[in-house]
Amino acid sequence: ARMAGMLINGTPTRTIQPVADARAVDIIDQTALPHVYRILRLRTLAEVAHAIRSMQVRGAPLIGVAAAYGVALALTQRADDATLAAAIETLAATRPTAVNLRWALARLQAVLQTLPPSARADAAWREAGTLAEEDVQQCRRIAAHGLQLLRAGGEQKGKLEIMTHCNAGWLATVDYGTALAPVYAAFDAGIDVHVWVSETRPRNQGLLTAWELGRHGVPRTLIADNAAGLLLQSGHIDAVMVGADRVAANGDVANKIGTYLKALAARAAAVPFYVAAPHSTIDFACPNGAAIPIEERDADELRIVWGCDTAGRSGCLRQVTSDVAVANPAFDVTPASLVSALISERGVCAASSDALLALYPEARHV
Ligand code: MRU
Repeated sequence: ARMAGMLINGTPTRTIQPVADARAVDIIDQTALPHVYRILRLRTLAEVAHAIRSMQVRGAPLIGVAAAYGVALALTQRADDATLAAAIETLAATRPTAVNLRWALARLQAVLQTLPPSARADAAWREAGTLAEEDVQQCRRIAAHGLQLLRAGGEQKGKLEIMTHCNAGWLATVDYGTALAPVYAAFDAGIDVHVWVSETRPRNQGLLTAWELGRHGVPRTLIADNAAGLLLQSGHIDAVMVGADRVAANGDVANKIGTYLKALAARAAAVPFYVAAPHSTIDFACPNGAAIPIEERDADELRIVWGCDTAGRSGCLRQVTSDVAVANPAFDVTPASLVSALISERGVCAASSDALLALYPEARHV
């Protein structure tokens, strides 16, 4: 059943879908979850750029695919060189850390720039669709490789306890997810799997993880971010499984802020720390983690909390007065030395430049 894709109310559902007349694209508004499941129809480049910036769509692979559809929407209106260049520039500036965004835009540019303007819109829709389909296939392969790794690890004791951070599931991709794909595969294979989900302040992507695992019936428990160290120390966790926004050529991993703390605690407790990511997340041109740009987001993400009141009305509350100085870095870098293994669509490898190049020999010339 899993191979039919992620189910929402029993229906296989993708996180992003072009509308049949090729004039719009539908997304799930992730800023409304977990309280409201709402589809948003995006019709313009500006709407796609806003959706990425405001995190109505989020997660490295999904950001890349959304940007590709953004280019298609722009070219549907005008397809000259200046429009193409401006669309790519606008979308590339929306979020800096997840390299999937630039990767997707570079792929579209390579296909489109050689075509006459009259052929560009159709080609852009086609290429965006191809990127989406490739993402689904890669996540499926990550699921299979990751499941093998988990089986080789803790399964013999009859129960698998996984800790994750942020949301690297179905919602962060087109389908299945990266870090959660092996979890869904384990669940569908009848393995007794349970996931510890950290809230992931300040944007609380852990609530998205809890929501999507729940839709698929996977047992999960939400914890405050600060509870992760204690849990890892307790010996109850078999593996930490996270996604990535950018893997540098040396195996350093940028992922949601707080990932590094989990990696440190996992190492201290001798718990394996796995990072699942497709090739579009690996930046062979980026030598190491220090060269990865870290997004700094609006201070109000810490000052203001979103949710719904006891009557079910959604809204926001100011938690911190605006005179308090706030820093809000959105990502951190986990050094390769703390990563037990990388899981990509090509297989499982060590977090090192040699191992990455052995898996991706075509990247030797980068
Ligand atoms: O800021 P976000 O929510 O876009 O960050 C998402 C993450 O950090 C994910 O772990 C990462 O993109 C991998 S998603 C498969």
